[in-house]
Amino acid sequence: MSRLDSLRRTASDAPGRAYDWADRRFELDSGRDALGKAFPAEDSFLLGEVALFCFIVLALTGMFLGMFFEPSTSEVTYEGSVEKFQGQEFPEAFVSVLQITYDIPYGMFIRRMHHWAAHLFVASIGLHMLRVFFTGAYRNPRELNWVVGSGLAVLSMGAAYTGYALPFDEFASTATGIGYNVASSIPVVGGIAAKVFFGGQFPSSATIPRLYFLHVLVIPVLIGIGLAAHMAILVRQKHTEAPRDEDVASPRETVDKDDGDVIIGLPAFPNQAAVSAVVFFLTLATLSVLAGFLPVHNIAEYGPNDPAGTPELIMPDWFFMWLYGFLKLLPTWMSFTIPVVGIHVSTEFIGGVLLPSLVFLGMFAWPFIDYQRDPTHFTSDPLSRPWQTAVGVAAIVFIMVASIAGMNNILASVLGTTTSVVNPFLIAALVFGPIVAGGVVYRVLSADLETAEEGQQEVAADD
Ligand code: HEM
Repeated sequence: MSRLDSLRRTASDAPGRAYDWADRRFELDSGRDALGKAFPAEDSFLLGEVALFCFIVLALTGMFLGMFFEPSTSEVTYEGSVEKFQGQEFPEAFVSVLQITYDIPYGMFIRRMHHWAAHLFVASIGLHMLRVFFTGAYRNPRELNWVVGSGLAVLSMGAAYTGYALPFDEFASTATGIGYNVASSIPVVGGIAAKVFFGGQFPSSATIPRLYFLHVLVIPVLIGIGLAAHMAILVRQKHTEAPRDEDVASPRETVDKDDGDVIIGLPAFPNQAAVSAVVFFLTLATLSVLAGFLPVHNIAEYGPNDPAGTPELIMPDWFFMWLYGFLKLLPTWMSFTIPVVGIHVSTEFIGGVLLPSLVFLGMFAWPFIDYQRDPTHFTSDPLSRPWQTAVGVAAIVFIMVASIAGMNNILASVLGTTTSVVNPFLIAALVFGPIVAGGVVYRVLSADLETAEEGQQEVAADD
């Protein structure tokens, strides 16, 4: 063999030799089982992945923004390209976001991408959670992963809230101020909570640095830890899988249709990796299109935070609208003072802390409310679970009505009336809407189930 041939052979074998080299050091062969982990070929299972990819986009775009954002409210002279602000003194945070938007190359695009990724993150988490809920994938043994997931949902809302305030424009800081009032309304510990999360009186010079610290370090690190736990539990317990109609023949063995210990699906590598890559690029493409065409939070129009003024319209992001709805609906007469100890319980506390805490408590506790002693590895059809599906539908109606209540001023102006006229109807809808919707779902599904069972019994009797 010529020297050239031998060199060619060595080069063509390079990947194999590199693998052997790495295998001797990291025992790659022992990881091959993980590459064969099966993923159910079910599209709704990809919603969790969309959330995961949004988090990656958020981290990357956030790093870009972090290079230019100034977490400070010290006054500086604006010298950027928005003519109406030139030469004026503004808080540094506001000026730096103006600069990112109008003067830094690709700044506006990346800022919009970060914004839309945050919205898609929360939306995909919500849909992923509904998928898990309605198919019963939270049941034994996956209760803990539901609890970890619920923590992730709360953290993602915390990330969105702390980020919303950072540009320190008039609109965002007024909406953030609502959160400050709610935090300070907590009996006994309200003052401390406001100090911890807002750096004292809102807005003080410590507020933006504090929210920035929470937004770029504390919350993302906690989300990262939560995600690692979520994925580790998922890999260890395996996915749930749709019930099989019959035994499944595979090249190696035939899998019993009732055997929940074995999961039928695409191997992690290369099949699922290819599907996930498509989902990743589709997520990226969707966010790029949104960032390219849809503007976000126009701070040049709102202007910097003005402690003396209040904007005409104050609106939180859509995923906080239900919380805002509680605050808007609760009448002030509900506030009271606990005798003897003299602790004041305000409507702000009831609507902003107590009610949402009950909602979150219900969410965290759900797998233990619908507790199942025996492990389940197959998903269920929501139509065959009347009371669980009824609770899910009731919860969706409750959150939707509360969200509409958050926009009661818009509703009132569309109907040509005032909020004091629409509020009683909204309160009635909030109390009775979920009961009626849940009740109807329960009746219909139970009746269907009974008919199906009777049909089965008749077939069995005929046989
Ligand atoms: C940052 C937010 C989240 C991310 C990135 C995420 C990601 C994922 C991924 C990729 C999967 C596997 C594929 C799938 O089943 O969709 C999964 C499964 C799961 N997630 Fe999440 N998730 C998040 C939040 C949540 C929430 C809010 C809940 C419920 C409250 C939840 C509960 C679960 C459960 C129980 C499973 C196992 C489902 C099964 O085996 O069928 N997750 N998650």
